[in-house]
Amino acid sequence: MTVSVEVPATVPDDASALAQPLKRGDACTVVIFGAAGDLAKRKLFPALFHLQCDGLLHGDFALVGVAREPMTDDAFRQLVYESARDADDPSPAGEIDDEAWARFAPRLSYVQGDLTASDTYAAIGRRLGDIEAAREHSDGRLFYLAIPPSLYAGTITHLEQSDVAERVNRRSARPWVRVVVEKPFGRDLGSAKALNRAVRKAFAEHQVYRIDHYLGKETVQNLMVFRFANSIFEPVWNRHHIHHVQITAAETVGVEHRAGYYEDAGVVRDMFQNHLLQLMCLTAMEPPVAFQADAVRDEKTKVLRAIRRFSAAEMHDYSVRGQYGPGVIKGTAVPGYRQEPDVAPDSDTPTWAALRFLVDNWRWEGVPFFLRSGKRMERRVTEIAVQFREPPHLMFQDHDKTMTPNVIAIRVQPDEGISLSFDIKVPGVGVRMTAAKMDFSYGEAFGAAAHSAYETLLLDCMVGDATLFTRGDAVEAAWEVVDPVIEAWDDKDPEHFPNYAAGSWGPAIADEFIARDGARWRQP
Ligand code: BG6
Repeated sequence: MTVSVEVPATVPDDASALAQPLKRGDACTVVIFGAAGDLAKRKLFPALFHLQCDGLLHGDFALVGVAREPMTDDAFRQLVYESARDADDPSPAGEIDDEAWARFAPRLSYVQGDLTASDTYAAIGRRLGDIEAAREHSDGRLFYLAIPPSLYAGTITHLEQSDVAERVNRRSARPWVRVVVEKPFGRDLGSAKALNRAVRKAFAEHQVYRIDHYLGKETVQNLMVFRFANSIFEPVWNRHHIHHVQITAAETVGVEHRAGYYEDAGVVRDMFQNHLLQLMCLTAMEPPVAFQADAVRDEKTKVLRAIRRFSAAEMHDYSVRGQYGPGVIKGTAVPGYRQEPDVAPDSDTPTWAALRFLVDNWRWEGVPFFLRSGKRMERRVTEIAVQFREPPHLMFQDHDKTMTPNVIAIRVQPDEGISLSFDIKVPGVGVRMTAAKMDFSYGEAFGAAAHSAYETLLLDCMVGDATLFTRGDAVEAAWEVVDPVIEAWDDKDPEHFPNYAAGSWGPAIADEFIARDGARWRQP
């Protein structure tokens, strides 16, 4: 039995008004490379349009789409319209605010071109010149690389060599020039370093926004507020009180149409190097001295540097991998990974992994962090669960049967919120215990999420707040953490793949893996 205890409402009735951002974008032109691609259509265009609907774009905002496909400005507007209309995040698919669209559409235009050819950049330069000529002042320029990673370095070099993007400093006439680089940032430490070199040759670090969309999620940002704006959690947030931490990112989707990328990437490059390690950094970092980009990023990077490195011979103690076979999800039969389109019938690509990390510093010595992520799992859920130690002495007779550990669970998605589990006495004669839960739900307190992760992050780019973006040194530090795992796995073929059925919680060996530390996986 679970007893639910409601947190008293501390937010006012008009709480949704509180969810409006405190800032509005600067005057700028956003140039999206890869404007006919999946990311632009599914995430970026809907996000920009929603910022327009909420009045968060500057009066002097413009959007230029760039892609190889021939398209007129009107055809591009139609593409953006359909993307915004069909997105269901955050407003329901099929709906569009016509008045906001009438204000948005004239701000859009399109440049067709091959990103490997210099005349494309000359054409972009002319278009930007035309847009800015009508404004009588030079505005910010934001270049968004929503393109295949193989094109990142070349595009950055072209941006450097053409006049469209310049290194901006205090003496520059232009207020700012920024470039947004999507994940994956490299495929290992060596390639990430090479990409960082290309980026730094063209831009100063403060101009570079390496995006990780998990950092734009509301609850992920709330983790910092939860830890550092309250005084009751920090004193127990350490090795003296915490038994272990579990970070789960479970997906119900399979590889979808992305086998070309995923076959090479696998789950560790796709989810751990970026999203899961970022969640771990926010959970484990020391309090930053200020809520400012470098102060926060310094502390996160220190966590990555403190993660213990392990050798290939020890890999068995620190990692398990899996690949989904056929199964059933929400009543529907789905194929195994090896039966997915464009996947090799004998593929060894892992679609599930659990890694055990130790952080060698005073706060965390000896506390295992279990990170787990997989595709085609029973439920879509991302959460951070901090499990506390057992009381040192138990005086209740039936504690063996009923003890449940204290857990603070931060639900990142869906159903964003925070819960605290603890034991209580069952009413009646004699002492019997059961688990109770205090639950705070974002949805109940504030209604639906006001802004998607991409809206938050695009707005941050337009105001120059890099707090939620990954700095170059941190990206490299994260590759240093995961590279040994990937290399050890590459050297030893997995046995028994596929080893979990679609619709389950992952391979059975995972239970034994976590049990060695006296822990059990949560099934959130
Ligand atoms: C992406 C990965 O970065 O994150 C995908 O490439 C994954 O494979 C996705 O599905 C998960 O994001 P979200 O926001 O749906 O949890």
